[in-house]
Amino acid sequence: MNLFCLDGIPEIHTDPAEVPGMYMVLGRVSDHTSDLTPEEHDLIRDANPSRQNSFATGRQLAKAALTHLGISLKPILRNDRRPVWPEFVVGSISHTDHLAVSAVASAMRYQGIGVDVEVISAVDERVANRVLDEEEREWIDSLQLPEWRTALFSAKEAIYKATNPITGEFLGFRDVTLKIDESALSFTAHAQKDLKASRLLENARGYFHRIEGHWLTTFVIET
Ligand SMILES: CC(C)(COP(=O)(O)OP(=O)(O)OC[C@H]1O[C@@H](n2cnc3c(N)ncnc32)[C@H](O)[C@@H]1OP(=O)(O)O)[C@@H](O)C(=O)NCCC(=O)NCCS
Repeated sequence: MNLFCLDGIPEIHTDPAEVPGMYMVLGRVSDHTSDLTPEEHDLIRDANPSRQNSFATGRQLAKAALTHLGISLKPILRNDRRPVWPEFVVGSISHTDHLAVSAVASAMRYQGIGVDVEVISAVDERVANRVLDEEEREWIDSLQLPEWRTALFSAKEAIYKATNPITGEFLGFRDVTLKIDESALSFTAHAQKDLKASRLLENARGYFHRIEGHWLTTFVIET
């Protein structure tokens, strides 16, 4: 995994053997609206300033990531809420109020990529009861590490972002169960019923990183 940290964010150690060929850029959310193309600006013209900043920062980081693939800057528009990537590219964008991230890779290598960034304390017990199944909650309780509630939530959002552009299918949070390797900070996922995404999940893996009070989660589906 090639991870580039901008805006004074400390470098995070990543294993170069993990997710080869994927380029991820992490930065701080700030006012990048003047960097948007007119077509991109039209997409968020009516949004509030904080949404405009997160959208524009996500686009700026996505374009920075694309330059590592040798792809020149073009507008990144959207289809429904999904970003529309250049031909032969897969990618993903995420943001909180503070941090934003984008990752891209060649579609020859990966069918889909999902990234998600969440404040570590974002998911409390009430939300966890809604989005995690009993086995996942028991695993968190056995560790007595409540911050893993947010990690598992983030993993499910990353899975959705990686699979939905391929399948067009909505996934509920209880449709997918996670198996976490907490020492390796990695995970796999399994469908709870027959889904279009079921086969994709068999060929996929996710990774967690912690940075400045956030979980940064990546999920990649091999070709
Ligand atoms: C789409 C969703 C995952 C976005 O996550 P979020 O935490 O709200 O917001 P994030 O900042 O992390 O991500 C937002 C970005 O996701 C991307 N995105 C939105 N919809 C997407 C989709 N269907 N597929 C891929 N990426 C999508 C966009 O780039 C968006 O940023 P932008 O509008 O600035 O371009 C979330 O709103 C959602 O609908 N979740 C329900 C489905 C789900 O996660 N199920 C779990 C199944 S196991």
